[in-house]
Amino acid sequence: MSTPSPIDPRQEKSAQPDDAILAAHEKHAGAKTAPGHYHLLPLALLFIFSGLIFYAGTYLNRYSGHFSGKVFDERQLPTSGAAVAAKIDPLVLGKKQYNLACVTCHMPNGLGLPGVYPPLAESEWVLGSEERLISIVLHGLKGPVTVKGNVYGTAAMPAFGQVPGSGYNWNDEKIAAVLTYIRHEWGNNAGAIATERVTEIRNKAGARKEWTEAELLALP
Ligand code: HEC
Repeated sequence: MSTPSPIDPRQEKSAQPDDAILAAHEKHAGAKTAPGHYHLLPLALLFIFSGLIFYAGTYLNRYSGHFSGKVFDERQLPTSGAAVAAKIDPLVLGKKQYNLACVTCHMPNGLGLPGVYPPLAESEWVLGSEERLISIVLHGLKGPVTVKGNVYGTAAMPAFGQVPGSGYNWNDEKIAAVLTYIRHEWGNNAGAIATERVTEIRNKAGARKEWTEAELLALP
């Protein structure tokens, strides 16, 4: 590369003598405030930002929930038993249980299958004595039984309580719920069955095999 010509304007500007540059720097340095003195504005800003940082710290300490993932989690399930129990609607649980286990024989419309599976809709067994109804579902039913004037008995009703050798292991809450459901569905209009009532009947009967119609009719 050839040496730039002396008339190059950039060359001209930077070619100032060192004293001139030093003088210019001194001028700027002199314009600065003497050490030890502060402007009012930066000091005020310092206070404002300190205040904000203090406020933010206090706020986080108070409302952050210590950054735990469980705080403010709307999907978190209640852990206390009482809270869970309070939320379960027997009719919802009962419908679920019915469609899980009873529907195959007694049908979605609760009318059963003529000659084989008796109806639950308008059945005197469903609408009548609580103890007999609970007993049927807890331990099962076998042999001839009359429902709405028709005799059934070719098939057996399985036991749903925690009966040894039975496939079903329903607790008292599930049994109470399904009974509450069938007493309320298909135009049926009988009162709800309490879980405590199922517990009471279960304890009273103890472990036993399926009922017969005659045994049930002897119950209150
Ligand atoms: C495998 C088929 C089957 C299943 C499942 C079944 N039942 Fe039954 N159920 C029967 C039969 C059969 C009888 C009649 C038994 C007899 O003839 O001695 C009966 C009788 C009954 C009776 C008394 C008679 C009546 O119609 O009112 C009730 C109440 C009853 N079942 C409720 C239920 C409930 C509630 C469930 C579900 C938790 C259920 N059953 C599941 C077959 C079944």
